[in-house]
Amino acid sequence: MAVTIKSAREIDLMREAGRLLGIVHEELGKAIHPGMSTKDIDKLGEELIRSFGCTPNFLHYQGYPASICVSVNDEVVHGIPHADHILKEGDIVSLDAGLIYKGYHSDAARTHKVGTVSPEAEQLILVTKQSFFEGIKNAKAGNHLYDISNAIDAYVTSYGYGIVTALVGHGIGTKLHEEPQIPNFAQRRKGVRLQPGMTLAIEPMINMGTAEVEWLDDDWTVVTADGAYSAHYENTILITDGEPEILTLPL
Ligand code: MF3
Ligand code: CO
Repeated sequence: MAVTIKSAREIDLMREAGRLLGIVHEELGKAIHPGMSTKDIDKLGEELIRSFGCTPNFLHYQGYPASICVSVNDEVVHGIPHADHILKEGDIVSLDAGLIYKGYHSDAARTHKVGTVSPEAEQLILVTKQSFFEGIKNAKAGNHLYDISNAIDAYVTSYGYGIVTALVGHGIGTKLHEEPQIPNFAQRRKGVRLQPGMTLAIEPMINMGTAEVEWLDDDWTVVTADGAYSAHYENTILITDGEPEILTLPL
């Protein structure tokens, strides 16, 4: 399967899928506070998604048991929400969410502070977010896919952080995961040529220490091998004739 190019009609549906997910993230961000459980976040997220008449695309995906991936501190991604996992002041919490609107998928992630966090954790969150924006400066028709990867790598590496290589971004559309895979680390090849109508989920996962990760016994939760904090930032974007369009913002 090659990289799909979306039609004008499909792009409109992807835009709406993205906009609604942007609202979900905005609301979840406002709700985060010490004392709430990671299950509370999942419940609120699922309610918001369903309130828009959409379906959570992560729920039951390859057996994943929740709608929102909630990953705290040294958890990188795919954390499973639990009623007995209570957020506390100083934690950082990565929320990864996605939904299906009229058959089209959106996917986005944010890392939030729980109350006041250490300056080091704050910097990790900001650099992870900025690395996405550094990457998409290159997300222009005529450039190559790995121009994005290389820009993320160069920016993150300048801070001495570890870039997770075990997981990557991806194309997205009528399926959550489409071609191409999008690494967040430098590549020797150029990758596919970017064309207008490609929709891509770009999602740097950045560790304060080592890039190495491990899986917990639940077979989902990815954690840093050294126990250091990790952050995640993701948007679904559209390649256009000009600047890329970030679809997963509330507008
Ligand atoms: N953003 C993640 C990804 O692109 C979300 C999938 S997690 C799962 O792979 F829960 F759906 F498995
Ligand atoms: Co994704």
